[in-house]
Amino acid sequence: MSAPKKLYVKTYGCQMNVYDSERMAEALGSEGYEQVATPEEADMILLNTCHIREKAAEKVYSELGRFKPLREAKPDLKIGVAGCVAQAEGEEIMRRQPMVDLVVGPQTYHRLPAMARAVEGGGKALDTDFPEEDKFLHLPKARKPKRGPTAFLTVQEGCDKFCAFCVVPYTRGAEVSRPAERLLREARDLVERGVREVTLLGQNVNAYHGEGPDGEWGLARLIREMALIDGLDRIRFTTSHPNDMEDDLIAAHGDCEKLMPYLHLPVQSGSDRILKAMNRKHTAEAYIRLIDRIRAARPDLLLSGDFIVGFPGETDEDFEATMDLVRRVGYGQAYSFKYSARPGTPAAEKPPVDPAIADARLQRLQALLTEQQRAAQDAMVGREVDVLFEKAGRLEGQLVGKSEHLHAVHVQAPAHLKGEIARVRIVESQPNSLSGDLIDA
Ligand code: SAH
Ligand code: SF4
Ligand code: F3S
Repeated sequence: MSAPKKLYVKTYGCQMNVYDSERMAEALGSEGYEQVATPEEADMILLNTCHIREKAAEKVYSELGRFKPLREAKPDLKIGVAGCVAQAEGEEIMRRQPMVDLVVGPQTYHRLPAMARAVEGGGKALDTDFPEEDKFLHLPKARKPKRGPTAFLTVQEGCDKFCAFCVVPYTRGAEVSRPAERLLREARDLVERGVREVTLLGQNVNAYHGEGPDGEWGLARLIREMALIDGLDRIRFTTSHPNDMEDDLIAAHGDCEKLMPYLHLPVQSGSDRILKAMNRKHTAEAYIRLIDRIRAARPDLLLSGDFIVGFPGETDEDFEATMDLVRRVGYGQAYSFKYSARPGTPAAEKPPVDPAIADARLQRLQALLTEQQRAAQDAMVGREVDVLFEKAGRLEGQLVGKSEHLHAVHVQAPAHLKGEIARVRIVESQPNSLSGDLIDA
């Protein structure tokens, strides 16, 4: 048998890309590729890219530039670009960077094996279709190695919301839900391989409406059925849109024990005028009322969000409305971004906010969000929490895992607890993590 060919995959962007990278590595596994940790060792490099902000997309070209010496030293090295930049820019990538052999969009990675054979033969390959067939169905039956205790599982892809700033509806296409039974099977399979916690993924995950054995299932039904799987202890989902947060999903936060008390529910802005211009289709007040209802179902819920500052037309007053909303809601965790104009989106046509003003607003918002995050963490000190240990920590004898609220927790603990859930008393809150002591069972 010939020696395995070596594949290096680098992933940018959201969790969906993390999931897709695993699937692409499996697909190329059937072509004799084995994953390696550095580009220097590789026979094929695959960048799984993100197009969400200009910086994310530009990073791809600078990364490709860095591979030049590798390619000169090893002319047979194949270089591929996958994901959302591949979808958005297609052939343009090969024009800008002729070293690139292969461009594959997010919906066609099941065709990668054939594309890999084409480029190995010295050709170029490009596929950015939105095919009718389900890319997940065509994946090879993977070998089933043991894996870590947490996994992502894509249940829904694409988005029909068309927020005025966002490329996702163009790069990922229309909203599609995967059939429920297939997802349950995939979840059982993950559990057999050692997984204890599954995060259900979708660009608009709470809009999930997959075909079930007895009609259409929403996300709440899928979660409840998944919770029946023995050995699966924790379920999370991300990312949700406020307008798709239906009653049964809110109820599940209160009565489904395996559903973790954490919710990522982006609002983007606290100004009704800006929300309207963003095409978010709800008001700030409606969002706050929704949060109240979810917290009534699950009082200790840790809320996370996304914000954009400097959206075209944002005034000081609009920005202050965002600060007010943040103060009223209280986030345990959040991401905030300076608006980045994306070609092809409606907002990109409008005059931008002065970048210096946008920077200053972003700094103020981030300071407030950091303060809230820190307060939520500090409030955990002295409490007992369940931690799912994922890996060794930086210190000798230490393990790191996640609490139910998704806080990273460092604990002195024996190595055999890796992959297990243990009770921990939190003793200290650091800038981005907690530390605690094992409580003897
Ligand atoms: N589907 C998810 C988010 C996908 S993108 C949702 O609807 O919330 C993740 C985050 O990136 C968004 O929530 C938004 O805050 C940010 N984002 C998207 N487009 C952006 C842009 N053009 N400029 C700055 N931030 C952006
Ligand atoms: Fe983008 Fe809006 Fe869809 Fe989220 S809901 S992916 S922000 S268009
Ligand atoms: Fe980026 Fe595509 Fe995800 S643009 S955020 S990788 S869906």
